[in-house]
Amino acid sequence: MSGPRIVAGSANQRLAGEIVEALGYGSSSCVVERFPDGELRPVVDGVRGADAFVVAPTGPEVNDHVVELLLLLDACRRAGVGRATAVVPYFGYARQDRRVRAGQAVGARVVADALVAAGAQRLVVVDPHTPALEALCGIPVEMVTAVPVLARELAGIVAGPVAVVAPDFGAAKLAGHYASLLDGSVAVVRKHRESGSRVLAGDVLGEFADRRLVIVDDMISTGATIEAAVRLLADRAAGPVLAVAATHGPLVPAAIGRLRCLPVGRVVVTDSVAQPDTGFVVCSIAPLLADVISRLHHDEPLDDLLIRT
Ligand code: R5P
Repeated sequence: MSGPRIVAGSANQRLAGEIVEALGYGSSSCVVERFPDGELRPVVDGVRGADAFVVAPTGPEVNDHVVELLLLLDACRRAGVGRATAVVPYFGYARQDRRVRAGQAVGARVVADALVAAGAQRLVVVDPHTPALEALCGIPVEMVTAVPVLARELAGIVAGPVAVVAPDFGAAKLAGHYASLLDGSVAVVRKHRESGSRVLAGDVLGEFADRRLVIVDDMISTGATIEAAVRLLADRAAGPVLAVAATHGPLVPAAIGRLRCLPVGRVVVTDSVAQPDTGFVVCSIAPLLADVISRLHHDEPLDDLLIRT
């Protein structure tokens, strides 16, 4: 197999460009044409025999980006790629890892199967919504974490005793990871989701009194989860929320105004999904992904970059 190649989809070209810069590898030429009816037609060049890394987060527009990723993988396979790794920093549909009620699909499984069918031989994701992704996928999945990147940013914002608040039980382990890096306690909000954009926060459990607060989650989309947690904490006369941090910010337009109205010091996300100009703090994960790609290419272990379970 010849050398590594970065194939950059259109979803986050800035991130892909920074990865290429950090690695010093050649990127393959990749153009994604769009037909007037919305069909996509990617054209890749320079991947024959290569160890190719297709960088394509599947944030909004989620369905377009999923299809584009599938087509890119197929294009690489048909061009005679040596090995294709899908680098999907934000994996859309990961929230649909099981049926919450009868009649639903398991969207994460459908997308995972489609990636494999299209030619992915390995998958790299960052802080996926569910660790079940590994079991749902029939190829090796490297689940790396951006928590140390975000915690470094938070360390410059928080001072004094801090409580790391998970806005739902699903984020409790994540909060534990942040708390270990920030030397803080952990609290968890009991959340109930009524719909895609409506969330109720019932109670907050754990150690948070007389502490400054940081709320952490894997992702922010509508901002409803964060808003519910912030309002509940204010209602419980908790300390100030110095920051809200999430690995992924697949923000719907209404989320930006919603978050700006909240009494929180900073909103911190990574560039796993291309970020509009919001005034929020954006930490780059390009160095992390460059390190991951370099190690995979050289068959070196990733252990210290993987999610702590
Ligand atoms: C759900 O369990 C996730 O971890 C996030 O809490 C959720 O997806 C955030 O979405 P939103 O910002 O729309 O509430």
